[in-house]
Amino acid sequence: MANPYLKDDAPGGGVDPATAAEAVCARHGNDPAALLEILHELQHDIGCTPQAALPAIANALNISRAEVHGVVSFYHDFHETPGGRITVKICRAEACQSMGALKLIEAICRRNGIALGETSADKRITIEPVYCLGNCALSPAAMVNGRLHGRLDETRLQAAIDGAAT
Ligand code: FES
Repeated sequence: MANPYLKDDAPGGGVDPATAAEAVCARHGNDPAALLEILHELQHDIGCTPQAALPAIANALNISRAEVHGVVSFYHDFHETPGGRITVKICRAEACQSMGALKLIEAICRRNGIALGETSADKRITIEPVYCLGNCALSPAAMVNGRLHGRLDETRLQAAIDGAAT
């Protein structure tokens, strides 16, 4: 049975979260100082940092589950479940808001049929808020699959999304 935690195109498909977590920890010599890198790498490998993986990380690094959970819940970049194949991070911080970011968010969410912070049922797209992408001079700004875009309106952002889908 397919692992529900894995993206369709995730590397290392078929590995369960605990096993994947142990492998990532081992690559870092089970060093507790590398916890953040380990979590990022796990998310890269299986598309998320699910609860099911956290005890394995705590065991491997010889730290408490609470410590691992604390880090995962502190950083907004870590996700319990895999996001969509296209990830859109729209800035809603002050400079972007002053240039219409909230209207842009509303329009792009409506156009793609999901609410902010959600992933579409077909796993095509995730749209999530971020607070400053360091691109304030070119606001409103968004990141589509890691690529920064500025001076956006609905048409330009949708074009970036459609471009990322191909
Ligand atoms: S406020 Fe949006 S990029 Fe800085």
